[in-house]
Amino acid sequence: MTSDGPRHVAAIMDGNGRWAQARGKPRLFGHHAGARRVREVVRACPDLGVKYLTIFAFSTENWKRTQSEVAGLMSLFRRYIQREARDLLAEGVRVRFIGDRVKLDDKLTRLMDELELLTSHNDRVHLTVALNYGGRDELGRATKRLAREVAAGRLDPETVDETTLARFLDTCFLPDPDLVIRTSGEARISNFLLWQSAYAEYEFIDTLWPDFTAEVFADILASYQTRDRRFGAVTA
Ligand code: FPP
Repeated sequence: MTSDGPRHVAAIMDGNGRWAQARGKPRLFGHHAGARRVREVVRACPDLGVKYLTIFAFSTENWKRTQSEVAGLMSLFRRYIQREARDLLAEGVRVRFIGDRVKLDDKLTRLMDELELLTSHNDRVHLTVALNYGGRDELGRATKRLAREVAAGRLDPETVDETTLARFLDTCFLPDPDLVIRTSGEARISNFLLWQSAYAEYEFIDTLWPDFTAEVFADILASYQTRDRRFGAVTA
């Protein structure tokens, strides 16, 4: 049995730093090249039948990078939103952000809110950007919100099951990912969509993110279609 194309693809965009270093450039040069690939990959989605794309832009662990790299990435995110907003709107892309916004600066969170509102009527492609996101952090925040509902008497603990918890996750508006891609040769999940990827297929590829072209994306999706997804069941 072969699968249909994946409806929801999630990507761990790794290898920007190594890509830049291999060219004798600072790491931020690689992040800028990576941002251009994001644009290309989002644009490729409709033709490839991908309705939902979720990308890991900044993890809860990425704060441990040098102060100048963190500041450079935050400035890149602000500029990306400002520059791309008009095209994303025109191209039918609905943008949403997941992750904990509390640690992000006000200017960035304002731009994030505005972009979410601006694109809220779009439905051609759903782009979700994980920013200050960690799977365990998300589960911790979700559990806190759920516990508050129980404490307030609005939720009966006896009725809590996995669908209840899923409603409290940052991703409550998203279907689970069908395929998770990680670039740059690392075979780790790194705290990305831990709960949501329970039945996802994984593709670990050596390509560094700044070399992740629409063609590479299309090849991965073609190979996904030959996989047999059984979700734990036995098929004839
Ligand atoms: C991992 O590569 C990449 C990141 C932590 C940042 C990802 C950000 C982008 C691709 C920029 C654009 C994103 C948006 C949403 C505009 P790395 O630095 O860990 O690479 P390395 O493993 O080679 O050091």
